[in-house]
Amino acid sequence: MRILAIETSCDETSMALVDIHESSITIHGHFTASQAEMHSQYGGVFPAMAKREHVKTCVPLLATLLSEATQSIPKEEWVLHSMTKEAEIKSMLDREEIMANELCELFPNQAFPKLDAIAVTNGPGLEPALWVGINFARALGLALSLPVIGTNHMLGHLYSGLLPIDTLHTEITLHPIPKQAVSLLVSGGHTELVALEDGNYTLLGATLDDAIGEAFDKVARMLDLTYPGGPLISKLAEEARDKDIPGIVFPRPMMHSKNYEFSYSGLKTAVMYHIQKNPITTDEQKMSIARGFEDAAIEVIIKKTKDALEEKNAHTLLLGGGVAANNHLKNELKKLGEEQNITVLYPLSSLTGDNALMIAIAAGIKYINREVVDESETLKANGMLKIA
Ligand code: KG4
Ligand code: ZN
Repeated sequence: MRILAIETSCDETSMALVDIHESSITIHGHFTASQAEMHSQYGGVFPAMAKREHVKTCVPLLATLLSEATQSIPKEEWVLHSMTKEAEIKSMLDREEIMANELCELFPNQAFPKLDAIAVTNGPGLEPALWVGINFARALGLALSLPVIGTNHMLGHLYSGLLPIDTLHTEITLHPIPKQAVSLLVSGGHTELVALEDGNYTLLGATLDDAIGEAFDKVARMLDLTYPGGPLISKLAEEARDKDIPGIVFPRPMMHSKNYEFSYSGLKTAVMYHIQKNPITTDEQKMSIARGFEDAAIEVIIKKTKDALEEKNAHTLLLGGGVAANNHLKNELKKLGEEQNITVLYPLSSLTGDNALMIAIAAGIKYINREVVDESETLKANGMLKIA
């Protein structure tokens, strides 16, 4: 099936156009416009600002995507559509006026390839941001007479490791969809272990307070690093390991609790107290805090992931989310995989952050599992949408 996927749940506007089948995918185009630099000035993402940027970005990004897709979708599959639904679209997009006008202007001159569906993230995420993508998808669905499929952002992260390479315009064989697996989802808003059994998802456990990425970002702020701080902390921690600077020993919260729950707010507070008692005056001190924090945060994750794999007797681990970019986490999971004979499917570095390609894959899998219904009339943003 051919899917146009749209992702606007946080601070990236992203679109992908793919042909997807049970075991292969052709990526006709995939573009992500990040707002991270803009938000970094304010130390976090402001929903109203994120929404405004998505509204400005959607139509130009779509035009770029379609232009790229002409390279691999044959000429005869492209059709010009006259815009007959302008009034309906303008009323549907009455809160996104710029987008409505740009879309109506784009239509008469822009050919669209034949498509089967439009997939869009409907949660979890920032609701004002999610609404932009949803309304855009619904407007396109109306103009092109296509179904709109709501897609869970975390399912996108969950399946992102199925893509082995991201070359455009060629057919790529996907890793097979595992019947039984555990997924570790680590991002700015989530820390979750999910069991996957024959297409059913069970949440094994999640964080009780801060998500791991959020803890990285908050500790980064304590070290005067800019947002998003995760990659910067990770770099400092790596430097500490290279230079043999030992990490400060911080607590490992919930390490020995007999469940899959996590807690990162205590660890973050421990870092804060440490800095209050030992004001930072050298780069070595920063490195040592970063290393100690990263070691503690990741040791808990590895322990619980190992337990979950054992309990579920699963031999595949699907890793996903922004923190999947973390090298220390990847190295520790690699060790775990080798020791326990587990296949670890990591997302490509281009797919750890928020992106529409993972949404296209998750929607394609929904379609393959015959779980697709047209939600163009009913779809709503749900900031707290759950996997299970
Ligand atoms: O999945 P994502 O892009 O957005 C959400 O859905 O939350 O994840 C963003 C999070 C941020 O907290 C960021 O600091 C963290 O992922 N992150 C990292 C690394 N790269 C991104 N955390 C630790 N190490 C990294 N290398
Ligand atoms: Zn995400």
